Amino acid sequence: METINDHSSSVAPRLIAIANQKGGVGKTTTTINLATALAAVRKRVLVIDFDPQGNASTGFGVEQSARTVNAYHVMIGEATLDQVIATTDIPGLSLVSSGVDLSGAEIELVEVENRLYRLKTALKGHVDNFDYVLIDCPPALGLLTVNALNAADAVLVPLQCEFFALEGVSHLVRTIERIKQNYNPDLEIQGIVLTMFDKRNNLSDAVASDVREYFGDIVYDTVIPRNIRVSEAPSHGKPVLLYDTGCAGAQAYIHLASEVLKREKSLAA
Ligand SMILES: Nc1ncnc2c1ncn2[C@@H]1O[C@H](COP(=O)(O)OP(=O)(O)O)[C@@H](O)[C@H]1O
Ligand SMILES: [Mg+2]
Repeated sequence: METINDHSSSVAPRLIAIANQKGGVGKTTTTINLATALAAVRKRVLVIDFDPQGNASTGFGVEQSARTVNAYHVMIGEATLDQVIATTDIPGLSLVSSGVDLSGAEIELVEVENRLYRLKTALKGHVDNFDYVLIDCPPALGLLTVNALNAADAVLVPLQCEFFALEGVSHLVRTIERIKQNYNPDLEIQGIVLTMFDKRNNLSDAVASDVREYFGDIVYDTVIPRNIRVSEAPSHGKPVLLYDTGCAGAQAYIHLASEVLKREKSLAA
């Protein structure tokens, strides 16, 4: 006999790290809005804010007072994941917030056993009620990002359309290869998304075509335009999808989500 929701609850969640060692390229914006777009199509989504700056927590409107136990406490073993998962105003979307303490974890964990797999261990068995777990990485390739990449099934790389973009991402791709060789052989690249594309700027176009030429199909067709509404939304504690659903930035993130889901199907196949 079949029951209605057996299928989704028995499938392991997919863990996607949103990573790029450069700051300000759109990691957090992509995490927030991809998560919201996935929740909008009834996926059960957990966002892990893994950057000590806590921008993803702010972007979802989570008050500082609600962040007293956060990803840091999970990393040092003072809390279980269940103790720090909070629901958000968005149906189907939960969040593990971050705090400034997380910046200390890097040093505190130096002597700790299994320090490269702390996140993976913490997630195991505690995220089975989700379809997708998105990890918003800090702008560095340190211990936190390595933990995220070791826990993840796939990595999604936002790439800002600017000079030197290609150099930075080549470095990241080499790091991903090293992680695969040494720690997490199953890690896949979900894709590279071009962000903050400015159609009035010739450089944006030149960078976009260079990146496509170099990386080929792993670059999503969807391009996220530079859009003022996208940058305003976090100060209202809302994803741009809720702040201004019709704007170009929000629509682009909806397209990105459908591309991500399409690739998930072929990656899982
Ligand atoms: N498509 C966009 N259009 C306009 N501003 C954007 C866009 N994407 C991101 N931003 C802004 O750029 C800044 C950096 O983005 P963010 O997502 O925080 O990058 P990261 O997490 O990689 O540091 C933020 O102020 C954000 O609001
Ligand atoms: Mg960020």
